[in-house]
Amino acid sequence: MKKTVYLDNAATSWPKPPGMMEAMVEYNRFIGASPGRSGHTRSVDAGRVLIDARQAVAKLFGVPDVLRVIFTKNATEALNIVISGLLGEGGHAVVTGMEHNSVMRPLNAARSRGADFSVVRCSGGGELDPGDAVPLIRRDTRLIVITHASNVTGTIMPVAEIAAIARERGIPLCVDAAQTAGAVPIDIEAMHIDLLAFTGHKSLYGPQGTGGLVIGGGLEHAIGPLMHGGTGSRSEFEVQPDFLPDKYESGTPNTIGIAGLHAGIGFVSGVGIDAVRRHEKSLTARLLERLESIDGVRVYGVKDPDRQTAVVSFAVDGMSPSDVSFALDEEYGVMSRPGLHCAPSAHKAIGTFPEGTVRFSAGFFTTREDIDYAADAVAAIAARGRKGAGK
Ligand code: ALA
Repeated sequence: MKKTVYLDNAATSWPKPPGMMEAMVEYNRFIGASPGRSGHTRSVDAGRVLIDARQAVAKLFGVPDVLRVIFTKNATEALNIVISGLLGEGGHAVVTGMEHNSVMRPLNAARSRGADFSVVRCSGGGELDPGDAVPLIRRDTRLIVITHASNVTGTIMPVAEIAAIARERGIPLCVDAAQTAGAVPIDIEAMHIDLLAFTGHKSLYGPQGTGGLVIGGGLEHAIGPLMHGGTGSRSEFEVQPDFLPDKYESGTPNTIGIAGLHAGIGFVSGVGIDAVRRHEKSLTARLLERLESIDGVRVYGVKDPDRQTAVVSFAVDGMSPSDVSFALDEEYGVMSRPGLHCAPSAHKAIGTFPEGTVRFSAGFFTTREDIDYAADAVAAIAARGRKGAGK
């Protein structure tokens, strides 16, 4: 019987945990006002929703000052704040060869305005040798950006080693945690992360349209806001306030989404990130074992559950990734993401540009049965492909 197996959690997690949607409905039913503005009871309650969610994020990532948590609509917005803020008037950045377009596009836009960047090449497995970053650092390097884990191969990057290199030279380190926040433990102090961009709708199990930036001490003086506007504070001034978090949070926020995000974080914290990671590692191990045993299937990345997230990229000989992904969905109800995953650099590194790969990404709610069902579907499609090719 055709099942529904959702293996696109690296794009957005599904299903969401109990309580997430309820928190949003409850917010709309009982509060629903604009936070930090009007001063009436419901406006104060709405403000409380933001404060509570900010505290939950701060606790999750070990942020000592809750005001350093800025809410944005996604990780992309957070990365844009950092890149356009630090490279707005020139300067240089060092990035890895596994970055998403949410890093590469703002960097290329900065380059067109006079800034520059260098790329640390990664191996065919998507791995990075931290020593390769050192010769790329210049006198005008103002930023190092590294993804915590690739959205193409799941490869977990050597953040601690890169952080040591950045710290020694006094260069701010920005970590793109879109694929890891909620799935891999993160402690910004212990890991010496100066800027952390995270999204709410993946492994934090919040709704789409939520995310944030954790901004390290003093960096707010170097990074200008992406947007200017009303904050509900210091309304007598027609210039942007320079204090946190208001400097970066103009306009009525996505309070209903942030209420949902808080519930998602509550779920993840309740289960425990270590338990989430254990479950996802065992799913990844099973997925790798099953896919690697299928004739005509090539699996990319480090192929080691200890060194990757629950993301596995593969290709089927003789078939395009989009044809495989379409057949998986249409015939078996298995949802994957084919192509370049908005990360052409990463696909160039692993040798799968321009056709890309099929990506399976498991989540906390994925079961071992789901993995086996999806692997059986890939085996049937690959066998058909071989037959078609007369092999
Ligand atoms: N960056 C997300 C993905 O990898 C959307 O699918």
